[in-house]
Amino acid sequence: MGVMAFLPLSCLGLLIASQGKNCGSAGVVDNGQIDYSNETLFGEKAVITCNEGYILVGQREINCGDQGWMDSLPVCEVLKCDPPADITDGKFSPHKESYEYLEVVQYSCVNDYTLNGSKSLSCSTDGKFTPDPPTCTRVECTDPKIENGTWKEGARPPYRYKSAVTLQCNSGYIMKGASIQTCDINSLWSPGLPQCTPVKCTDPKIKNGDRKEGSQPPYRYSSTVTLECHSGYIMKGASTQKCDIYGLWSPGLPECKPVECKDLRIENGDWVEGSRPPYRY
Ligand SMILES: *[C@@H]1O[C@H](CO)[C@@H](O)[C@H](O)[C@H]1NC(C)=O
Ligand SMILES: *[C@@H]1O[C@H](CO)[C@@H](O)[C@H](O)[C@H]1NC(C)=O
Ligand SMILES: *[C@@H]1O[C@H](CO)[C@@H](O)[C@H](O)[C@H]1NC(C)=O
Repeated sequence: MGVMAFLPLSCLGLLIASQGKNCGSAGVVDNGQIDYSNETLFGEKAVITCNEGYILVGQREINCGDQGWMDSLPVCEVLKCDPPADITDGKFSPHKESYEYLEVVQYSCVNDYTLNGSKSLSCSTDGKFTPDPPTCTRVECTDPKIENGTWKEGARPPYRYKSAVTLQCNSGYIMKGASIQTCDINSLWSPGLPQCTPVKCTDPKIKNGDRKEGSQPPYRYSSTVTLECHSGYIMKGASTQKCDIYGLWSPGLPECKPVECKDLRIENGDWVEGSRPPYRY
């Protein structure tokens, strides 16, 4: 108070008062922020930013003057989107003239058509709906026919999107690929129809033995062979083998074991000379 009393010029007093002016809070911006980077003092400014999805209408900066904040606050208006695109064989809802930021529309397809793409779209920051609208496709897969195989269970025609069938090979054929097939969006069976290839048994090779008679190679399901052992060998197992549906010889290849004679003993007598055990052929 003592200092002010000695100031002779009123204009100087005004200047000091202006420079010391503190504008205080500029108020509230709905859906936005006011950034007073420094102090809310005379000559300083505040910067207004809007939240995501809102557009600033008015001045971005306001200045603190001797009468307080010299500019009026801008407003943050919600971002709007025009309606998204119409699609053939489908529709979206809700229908409106314009949509606000983050509003969502849902697409659907008419009967028998399948939605390909995203079902829901939302109004985004660029004023457009994202992602792109889906399309509606008529999905129909053809009969899942395979050579030497048949439909086993599952869906029946018409095969629509996600219809699933299980296939099987005729006996004597082995499946290469997946037995379960699903009709995909492109009207194709997924992962792709399997193949039925004839069962194949390997050459019925046995140690110290041979094929005697029976089917000729290639050995398919139900081919039959008879095996025999070389002389001096005796068979353990079945001589007749059949190629089964798994491509294996059934009941299982035999073995040829060396013939072995028992120790020879006679009452009141003994070995004099000759071979020693084991006694082979
Ligand atoms: C805040 O103060 C610094 C240095 O004092 C200056 O560089 C900057 O421009 C000021 N910011 C505002 C918004 O006035
Ligand atoms: C397997 O398919 C072929 C070709 O379609 C056919 O000629 C053959 O008769 C089939 N075999 C059996 C056992 O059905
Ligand atoms: C599904 O949509 C994708 C992406 O838009 C497109 O590339 C494809 O061709 C569509 N498929 C069908 C069967 O319409």
